[in-house]
Amino acid sequence: MSQTLAERVTARLRDIPDFPSPAILFKDVTPVLADPEVFGAVIRDMADRRRGSIDVVVGIEARGFIFGAALAHELGVGFVPVRKSGKLPGDTVGLTYDLEYGTATIEIHSDAFVGGERVLLVDDVLATGGTAEAACRLLDQVGATVVAFETLVELAFLPGRQRLAGREIHATVVVP
Ligand code: PRP
Repeated sequence: MSQTLAERVTARLRDIPDFPSPAILFKDVTPVLADPEVFGAVIRDMADRRRGSIDVVVGIEARGFIFGAALAHELGVGFVPVRKSGKLPGDTVGLTYDLEYGTATIEIHSDAFVGGERVLLVDDVLATGGTAEAACRLLDQVGATVVAFETLVELAFLPGRQRLAGREIHATVVVP
């Protein structure tokens, strides 16, 4: 029997223990990217759910850029990066959010949206949901509408989905 896309992706996800810090099991997506058939299938699958319903893809630094840019190209729409503080060269709008220890700030170019754009937000992993929630709030702040969030992997034992309650979320692979 042929494998599902989720099974093909799962077979290429690599678990790296204790990265970037002790007790964290890191989901390494680089073997997915290195397989052109699986990477292509992931992008087409994400695109097929959204064709005709979005104006722009927004990718979250850093691995959200890889999936987001490919997806924007596949959909024939533009790509806008959400970056960590101090990385974007133009005028920016930022949002600071709480982490387990401390805070983080994300930014977008202030002229990236005029308001009313239908946005597909993309990242590689949904874990606690802090990053994606902050990106949604930042996009709301500039008047864009986050139509959906696409991620390669959802860690369902963490409360990411609850943090994004009310948003449409799809994960290629859900880790229970
Ligand atoms: C990872 C991942 C997501 C985020 C998910 O990025 O790529 O962006 O964490 O975690 P959360 O749901 O708990 O917010 P990371 O912080 O490792 O940054 P990087 O992509 O720049 O390495």
